[in-house]
Amino acid sequence: MTATLIDGKAIAASVRRNIASQVQTRTQQGLRAPGLAVILVGSDPASQVYVGNKRKACEQVGFVSKSFDLPSDTSQPELLAQIDALNEDPTIDGILVQLPLPKHIDSATVIERIRPDKDVDGFHPYNVGRLAQRIPVLRPCTPLGITHLIESTGIRTQGLHAVVVGASNIVGRPMTLELLLGGCTTTTCHRFTKDLRHHVEQADLLVVAVGKPNFIPGEWVKPGAIVIDVGINRLADGRLVGDVEFDAASERAGHITPVPGGVGPMTIASLLQNTLFACEQYHS
Ligand code: GUN
Repeated sequence: MTATLIDGKAIAASVRRNIASQVQTRTQQGLRAPGLAVILVGSDPASQVYVGNKRKACEQVGFVSKSFDLPSDTSQPELLAQIDALNEDPTIDGILVQLPLPKHIDSATVIERIRPDKDVDGFHPYNVGRLAQRIPVLRPCTPLGITHLIESTGIRTQGLHAVVVGASNIVGRPMTLELLLGGCTTTTCHRFTKDLRHHVEQADLLVVAVGKPNFIPGEWVKPGAIVIDVGINRLADGRLVGDVEFDAASERAGHITPVPGGVGPMTIASLLQNTLFACEQYHS
C-alpha cells in the first residue's frame, strides 16, 4: 500500500467535538440547543440503521432530536401534514426525511414541502440551485463531507480533473457542483457513459458512488490520484466493501478513503453542521 489513508472517522470525530462545544456555548448563554426532526417511513433495515446513527449523533452533540417513525402505509398527505407541522415548530431547525420513501410517495413533492431554511439534507431545489449558482447555503451532506475530506489532504483542487461516477441527486450530481465550486474540471459518469475506464483513468480526483461492490478495478486508478469511495456494500461473507477495489487502488492512489471509516462518518458530521448552521443563521 502506497496511498495515504484519509481517516474519515477521525475527521468526523473532530467536527463533532467542535459542534458539541459550540452547542455548549449556546446553552451556557441561555440560547436553545439546535433541534433536528428525523422522519422514517416504513421499516427498511438499512434506513433504520442510518436513522438510528443520525439520532444518536444528534444527542451526543447536545442537539434536541425528535423522532417520527411512521408506518409504511402512511399516505402522502399524512406525511406532508407532518412536515407542515415541523415547518411551523420554532424548536425545530432541521427536518430530515430518510430516503428512499415507499413507492406510493413522491419524494420530490416531499422534499419541496420542507422549508428551504430547515432543509438540512440540502436536497430542496432552492438549496441545490444556490449551490449550482456558487452561492451555497445548506449543502447536501455527503458531498459536503467529501469536500471536507479532500481539504484535509492539503491538496489544492483548482485545475484538477475530477471524475464522479454516479449521478444521483443525493451524491453524484451535487458532488459535481461542489467540485466545480472548488475549481475542478469535472466529468460526471453514469449508466449511459461509454468507456468508463477511459474517463476514470483521467481522474486526478475520483469520487465513486454507485453502490456496487468493487465496481472500479484498482488498475484503472491514475497514479497519485485522490480516491473517494462512497459505496458501502455488504458481501455474502459479511464483509463491508466499497465501490472501488481497495487493495489494488491503494497501490496506485496518492490518497484514498477506507470503507468503512471514510465517507460514511462524514455524512453525519455534515448533517450536524447543517443543523447548527440553520439554527444560528436562520432561527436564532
Ligand atoms: N438516504 C441515503 N442517504 C441519505 C441522506 O443523506 N439523506 C436522506 N434523507 N436519505 C438518505
